[in-house]
Amino acid sequence: MSGSRHPEADPVTEGVPRRRSPWEEELAGLPPNLAAERKAQLIGVANARRHIFLCADPTKPKCAPAERGRVAWKYLKGRLAELGLQDDGSILRTRADCLRICADGPIAVVYPEGVWYRRCDPPVLERIVQEHLLGGRVVEEHRLTTRELAGGVVSPRSPHSDLESSGPEGAASGPDR
Ligand code: FES
Repeated sequence: MSGSRHPEADPVTEGVPRRRSPWEEELAGLPPNLAAERKAQLIGVANARRHIFLCADPTKPKCAPAERGRVAWKYLKGRLAELGLQDDGSILRTRADCLRICADGPIAVVYPEGVWYRRCDPPVLERIVQEHLLGGRVVEEHRLTTRELAGGVVSPRSPHSDLESSGPEGAASGPDR
């Protein structure tokens, strides 16, 4: 993509160094291990009740055209912010490069319930936000499939234990990909 402008680039501010946010200023002054822990606090990991992953603007747009994914992501981010649901508001959000369904998108998945959704354009995302993320009810008309993940038990042995194995079943089998 060298030489081409990113589709979301602002022609007025492009090339002008962006001012760092207060978060970025704070994090830039910390060593990486503390910066990561502080960022986890700032985005509300400790209070999270649900996490939505949305395939948006992936490297190889297959489930939906790239522009449709970008619009969907912008809408989701904006609504979570407007409703005070992100950054300690109990909903985590992640823009995924690809969720491996690659059809009938934009594709999203909400955990912990493991509900996968199709055609997540803004009207569908609004329903997912209101009905599922806030109300705890699955939006059946747009549900692709459901697979609640059963694992996830961790030992509270130390402040760092959430990355440790709690027994033979929890032993890591290799690098996470
Ligand atoms: S490109 Fe969206 S799920 Fe693969």
